[in-house]
Amino acid sequence: MVDVVIGTFFGDEGKGKIIDFLSNDAKISIRCSGGNNAGHTINVDGKKFAFHLIPSGILNKGTKAVIGNGVVVNPKVLIEELENLKSNNIDISNFYISDKAQVIMPYHEALDGLQEDLRKNKIGTTKRGIGPAYCDKIERSGIRVEDLYSENFETLVRENVKNKNVIFKNYGYETFDAEELIKEYNKYAEYLKPYVTDTVSMLHEAIENKEKILCEGAQATLLDIDLGSYPYVTSSNPTIGGVCTGTGIGAKYIGEVYGVLKAYSSRVGEGPYITEQKNEVGDTIRELGHEYGTTTKRPRRCGWLDLVALKYSSMVNGLTGLAINHVDTIGKLDKIKLCVAYNHNGDVNMKYSTNAKYISECEPVYEEFEGNFGDLSNIKRREDLPENAKKYLNRIEELVGVPIKFIGTGANREDMIVVE
Ligand code: GDP
Ligand code: IMO
Ligand code: MG
Repeated sequence: MVDVVIGTFFGDEGKGKIIDFLSNDAKISIRCSGGNNAGHTINVDGKKFAFHLIPSGILNKGTKAVIGNGVVVNPKVLIEELENLKSNNIDISNFYISDKAQVIMPYHEALDGLQEDLRKNKIGTTKRGIGPAYCDKIERSGIRVEDLYSENFETLVRENVKNKNVIFKNYGYETFDAEELIKEYNKYAEYLKPYVTDTVSMLHEAIENKEKILCEGAQATLLDIDLGSYPYVTSSNPTIGGVCTGTGIGAKYIGEVYGVLKAYSSRVGEGPYITEQKNEVGDTIRELGHEYGTTTKRPRRCGWLDLVALKYSSMVNGLTGLAINHVDTIGKLDKIKLCVAYNHNGDVNMKYSTNAKYISECEPVYEEFEGNFGDLSNIKRREDLPENAKKYLNRIEELVGVPIKFIGTGANREDMIVVE
């Protein structure tokens, strides 16, 4: 009853497009973790929608779009996104936000910048305040959405501002005025009030009524705070466990777990990336795939698809199906390389490690495939794909051992093969 969409690499695999498709017949589409560090692009009838916080499922009439308790919410950004949807005639009456989601405050954004400035080895965060907001949540000084409406709200803001200002003063950064923040956030609270609800009860009512629920992953497995390439990760659990804790749904309700990937790979920010192509190939992929960040506009690092990492993602999430996007993009190259193993000092295997030192000692082992797939835009069945594309996809499926369920053949909503 509850299907899940998860990123298998470093984010930006095209989750938004798959979510948009799958939420078509879902009664609820829910974001589980992360915040406005995410950027999900969906192209509908020539119009481009970029979602950072609001579940991409909102584009489907009749689907409730829910921000779950595991999300960190910047209310200013959320309101801008809601207003933008309204101005595009998208109905937002089906939008809900968990009373338990954490609130991102301006001092979180400032701290994110300060911490990056201080770090010798930069992470390359999105500077959206994600890490500092999750820090406060874990440290138990965070402000929840429900706190915006409680008598305790002003005290919480004053306490937090007092403590954070000590740090800002220490480093010569601008400090914050608690009273200003209280005024600003009271306005946001007023705007958001109709949308705030107990989303856990809402989900379980839907489960009882046998309604279809879709959990929208943001970020991705290799950015997971526990299972990713620490410390070059985000501050949440974008893997399957984060779906349960970020929504309040037990594991027994979970059905399909779709892992989204591109036919190549990309990464924004710092950290190890074994199949990265810091050369003409990487530049070509970036241009062909328009690989520039939805959130920060940074050029994405690009490279070949890494099946060792994909197998790891499949393992830790228990993937039941793969959604592979940008098959059209990779098919524009003459030759395609696929990383099928790592060579660690002569030991060739498919063992992935999040240990940066181990990865730096590994050499990717590639198989080469013929590209030039030609125009895929009108193909709607896997068996009608050109032979070169079939060979490439079959090898991925064979080595990872998870069936391909969706094949992306272009950026538009309808550019997708649904594998029967
Ligand atoms: P997300 O963060 O995982 O939702 O992915 P992003 O939206 O940040 O990045 C994916 C980009 O690829 C977007 O610009 C999509 O429009 C685009 N895209 C998704 N699937 C395909 C595909 O199959 N082919 C092409 N050419 N573009 C795609
Ligand atoms: P979507 O949902 C790609 C990366 C940042 C940085 C690291 C930590 O669009 O796939 P953070 O601001 O989260 O503390 O930054 O994580 N990052 C993403 N990269 N796509 C994303 O989301 C990302 N969200 C965070 O670039 O390297
Ligand atoms: Mg993205």
